[in-house]
Amino acid sequence: MKTVEDKLHVNVPPIKIQGIKTKLVPFIKDNISFDKNGTWFEPFMGSGVVGFNLAPRNAVFGDVNPYIIDFYNKLKTQEITPKIVREYLEEEGAKLADTPADKNSYYYTVRDRFNKTHNPLDFLFLQRSNFNGMVRFSKNGYNVPFGRKPNRFRPALITKITNQVATTQEKILQNNWTFQCAGWQDLLKSASDKDFIYLDPPYIGRNTDYFTSWEENDANELANFFNEHQNLHYALSMWYKNKYRKNDHLSQWNGKMVTNEHFYFVGGHEENRNSIIEALILNC
Ligand SMILES: C[S@@+](CC[C@H](N)C(=O)[O-])C[C@H]1O[C@@H](n2cnc3c(N)ncnc32)[C@H](O)[C@@H]1O
Repeated sequence: MKTVEDKLHVNVPPIKIQGIKTKLVPFIKDNISFDKNGTWFEPFMGSGVVGFNLAPRNAVFGDVNPYIIDFYNKLKTQEITPKIVREYLEEEGAKLADTPADKNSYYYTVRDRFNKTHNPLDFLFLQRSNFNGMVRFSKNGYNVPFGRKPNRFRPALITKITNQVATTQEKILQNNWTFQCAGWQDLLKSASDKDFIYLDPPYIGRNTDYFTSWEENDANELANFFNEHQNLHYALSMWYKNKYRKNDHLSQWNGKMVTNEHFYFVGGHEENRNSIIEALILNC
């Protein structure tokens, strides 16, 4: 069966994260004007799905989450390969299947191990078997609960993840891409008016503890920076409004806004269909 991603012709990267922009890639692609001569800067890369699909020749990806960056750097150095991923998931997936769905699950053994050793393959395992593909850390480390499916790593899913690793690695090796663990301010120090910057910061007050927190003052600092550096070309992704609320923070940005309505179901019933309008703010 074709997934939404297949229909959109979007390559999905192996690391899942809340707020992933897979479905918005065609909308972003259609609305930005990036001539690909400069460098693509993506300081809030998350899964990297946007930049990976726009496939610029030169790109600088960043995130404050060191485990995301470590995973992609290891694809770049080929310390992680599709073969290594397949063997790892077959072995660890079988151990998961032998344990219950509760707190005695092998998932929690991997989670404890990851919090001590930070093995990037364990990070992948957790991201693909946790609750809803969430990335969340507290002061004690990674704390997302198990998605409660002991048989998660069936052969079809292992093949799918291995293929996602292979496609992403191919693109990394074909292009001049770097991955840096840094806050957005440091990452953008080398950006110039020839480059393009795609911004997808956390939403204030929602899903804010990806790795560090993101508060009102962080959002204001980002908006002020771009209002003061009008020479930099950017596109900012942000939610605009839903049935109940409008995002007042967007009025701080000077660029023009284009919007895209996106539907989702609560509980799978047609009468519970809700929509959210996503915005893209552009200054070029
Ligand atoms: C909304 S997610 C990005 C999702 C991504 N566009 C995707 O499609 O997968 C926001 C990301 O920003 C990162 N982040 C949070 N605060 C940051 C900061 N101050 N500087 C750089 N990255 C930050 C988080 O770790 C998270 O990965």
